Amino acid sequence: MSQSAQELLAAETMGEAAPYDRITVRRLCGALGAEIGGVDLSKPLDEATVGEIRRAFLDYSVIAFRDQDLPPDRQMAFTEIFGPVEQHPLYRSNPIEGYPEILVLEHKAGQFVNGKNDIWHSDITFSETPLLGSVLHCRACWEGFADTMFANQYLAYERLSGPMKRFLDGLTAEHSAELLQRKNNAHPYNKRIETIADPIAHPVVRTHPETGRKSLYVNSTFTIGIRELAEEESANLLAFLYEHAVQPVFVYRHRWRVGDVVMFDNRCLMHYVVPDHPHDMHRRMHRTTATGDRPF
Ligand code: OGA
Ligand code: MN
Repeated sequence: MSQSAQELLAAETMGEAAPYDRITVRRLCGALGAEIGGVDLSKPLDEATVGEIRRAFLDYSVIAFRDQDLPPDRQMAFTEIFGPVEQHPLYRSNPIEGYPEILVLEHKAGQFVNGKNDIWHSDITFSETPLLGSVLHCRACWEGFADTMFANQYLAYERLSGPMKRFLDGLTAEHSAELLQRKNNAHPYNKRIETIADPIAHPVVRTHPETGRKSLYVNSTFTIGIRELAEEESANLLAFLYEHAVQPVFVYRHRWRVGDVVMFDNRCLMHYVVPDHPHDMHRRMHRTTATGDRPF
């Protein structure tokens, strides 16, 4: 390998094609994730800073800001950097007055308002246009419990063999909110979800609309089957893909602190909340989401 090719590869794996001037960017692990410093998200941001935040988001898929204190309107403004803010299509519990777009995820004295998220998933893939990404602002937690894990689905795809990639490239899968509805309605303190939409098909391998990279796009919460295969073939292939997709080498585990703001790219990641909550732990997340495109 020539010197320059080697340098190029190093720059690529470090995710830094150009330097950052307005923010500091510290990689969190090999798989994905960066901690961003030098920004107070409660103040309006200039265009150059917004540009660098957006670039870091595409380079690292998860960007984490520490020690922030975002009132609802500033969380909305931050989310809008990435796209229009949309409301959760099904959950309605526990709103903040005047901000129906902010979903409050809360665990209080043994109750998970809106359910637990201890199954690997991408958000809202049962929609025709699943989310671009989500912002989670931690308002209460016990450090070291209920960490959130993120798995890089670009890498999950790239590490497959050539023939397997080519096989998956031609397939589509159906996604449904069935399991979410069942889980939500099992808890009497959640507002019931009465109806859900018909299943929707998405490619098993999607292309990121901004980076152009391909990623694996099936998840064990919402994907119900691969359309082109027999039922048993689909079930077995999905089981393999779910196991393959969340290997430790693809995963970053975020240990929450009050004041964290984490934005994650829902187009190329799956996530999972570790269910190790002590019964009396209080955890409260303010979650906002940016609208995505139809996967292709
Ligand atoms: C979600 C989710 C993660 C968390 O909001 O979609 O999975 O850490 N939450 O609460
Ligand atoms: Mn989720």
